[in-house]
Amino acid sequence: MTHPYVNELRARFGLDVALGDGEVPDEPWLHKMLTRRTQRRYADRAVPESLVRLLLAAAFSASSKSDFQQASVIWLRDRARRDRLAALFPDMPWIGAAPVFLVFLGDSRRLERIGALRGHAQDNGALEGFFNAAVDAALAMQSCVLAAETLGLGSCPISVLRNRIGEVAELLRLPDKVFPVAGLCLGYPAQAGFVSMRLPMDATVHVDAYDDSGLAAAVDGYDRRRDSRHSIADRQRAPERFGTAQFYGWSEDKARQAKTAEGGGFATWLKAHGFTSDEPGDEPGDEPG
Ligand SMILES: Cc1cc2nc3c(=O)[nH]c(=O)nc-3n(C[C@H](O)[C@H](O)[C@H](O)COP(=O)(O)O)c2cc1C
Repeated sequence: MTHPYVNELRARFGLDVALGDGEVPDEPWLHKMLTRRTQRRYADRAVPESLVRLLLAAAFSASSKSDFQQASVIWLRDRARRDRLAALFPDMPWIGAAPVFLVFLGDSRRLERIGALRGHAQDNGALEGFFNAAVDAALAMQSCVLAAETLGLGSCPISVLRNRIGEVAELLRLPDKVFPVAGLCLGYPAQAGFVSMRLPMDATVHVDAYDDSGLAAAVDGYDRRRDSRHSIADRQRAPERFGTAQFYGWSEDKARQAKTAEGGGFATWLKAHGFTSDEPGDEPGDEPG
């Protein structure tokens, strides 16, 4: 176990993680990255505009599928508009309270417009176009998150925006084929926060071929480790529906959470705004990409 990240990996996985033979470089940034955390409470300290622009530049430095560059961001600066957005999600007051609020968008529209500008009109609303834009936006957001944390800021992605997609899209004046992947709260953290423990890599890393035969045991162990660090036994979700579990761990909590559908209306909204779940259509005579 003689590697420089023993403490960070213990914090992240609740385990002593062996990296195997061979030395690994001791990189200060990686120590920070391995213990990164979401922050939902922010200090009363302004984030200068120049810093936000720097973080946006980092966001748009993310890799991009086919170099199509299908992410966009709305920097929500107008107080009244932000308040109207925040009022839609009273359970998450950090949406209104964060010093900075960005919305990361999958932008399948821009590539279509560029096609039209160059005289090669195409429809980018098939599943492939949607998916590529969603991935680009997610990569841009996480690049922004990591850049922010590197500079001592905290952040919280906000995908709950999609739960009220109609109102959010109207507020942000989203045209067809542009959709929110998530908002992002940014600010200097008001507290240290904590490292959220992850599933063991036995459950998430497969060598050569997919094999989840050890899942049940891996999850049981994870539940116990997580519970011994931070019990959620007194916060059982919907006991009137699911009963009261004798042992209430992460997996019971997530299974209950996932049983209540989220994002209702998003698929319908996407269909009404230019997307299909079809295979992409090839224009006859076009070169494959
Ligand atoms: C795509 C995405 C959407 C999220 N949406 C929300 C959200 O709507 N509200 C919220 O409070 N946290 C949200 N989060 C934060 C997660 O709850 C958080 O990342 C998770 O609990 C793990 O914690 P950690 O980031 O500190 O490791 C989101 C995270 C991601 C990646």
